[in-house]
Amino acid sequence: MKPSTGSKITAETVRADFNDPVAVVHYTRAAHFLGLWKSERLLIERFFPDRTAPLLEAGCGSGRVAIGLWDLDFRQITAFDFAEELVAQAKTLAAERGAGAIRFLHADATRLGECLLIDDATPPPFGGALFMFNGLMQIPGRENRRAALRGLQARCSVGAPLLFTTHDRDHSPVERASWRLERLRWDQGKQDPRLVEFGDRYFEDEAGRTFMHLPDRTEILEDLAATGWRGEFDTMRRELTRESAAVRDFSDECRFWVARKG
Ligand SMILES: C[S@@+](CC[C@H](N)C(=O)[O-])C[C@H]1O[C@@H](n2cnc3c(N)ncnc32)[C@H](O)[C@@H]1O
Repeated sequence: MKPSTGSKITAETVRADFNDPVAVVHYTRAAHFLGLWKSERLLIERFFPDRTAPLLEAGCGSGRVAIGLWDLDFRQITAFDFAEELVAQAKTLAAERGAGAIRFLHADATRLGECLLIDDATPPPFGGALFMFNGLMQIPGRENRRAALRGLQARCSVGAPLLFTTHDRDHSPVERASWRLERLRWDQGKQDPRLVEFGDRYFEDEAGRTFMHLPDRTEILEDLAATGWRGEFDTMRRELTRESAAVRDFSDECRFWVARKG
């Protein structure tokens, strides 16, 4: 279902965009040829030291990160996405790579309580969670993003790390200037009418149509605090390492976040 001009972007819009063949090819190619970014690997090795811990990956797409985790010797991986076309690609690639034991599921991060396959056991089963490459920020509506954070929190054990990335509206003078202009458009009611909140963008490029919410740092710290996570570490990717040209081509600069279940 594509949005008609002027109708608000919903989860259904985003899901349809990720199931679109253009997006499926884009993310499947990355899963095949790119694998984990250097920065992702560095933080996984630093904050997920226990290779025996069961991990939950939200928004796994075509399996780029889940298969990367398998290659780092994690063996208890549950990965899910709400775009069924991407999940199908992830299963096929994992089988080809000898990682068929990864549990790939079709589920919506904002409705984890309804997903019977993601165990709601006591104590919670997962020793860590990930929502990589800005997937959390592709959920329209702050309350929905908080629902996803709460759902992940409920399924992790106390002390478990959560690793995710976002953009950062304040990360450069150019970015700050462009958001000052966007603020003016919102103040005057002249923003793209499909957007849900200030900070949202909806655009089209080689990955297809993309909805993205760009937060500032305070917003994320508030969202973590409101959902039972304690922000432990955050930094821009450029401060961690220099990525290959292929990775920089695939992805913009982002902020990495590590939070812990309190
Ligand atoms: C930018 S892609 C990243 C895919 C993959 N993690 C990677 O790094 O290549 C974001 C992913 O989040 C998924 N996603 C967005 N909202 C979701 C939701 N509410 N529930 C589950 N998955 C979601 C999308 O379908 C998409 O596969």
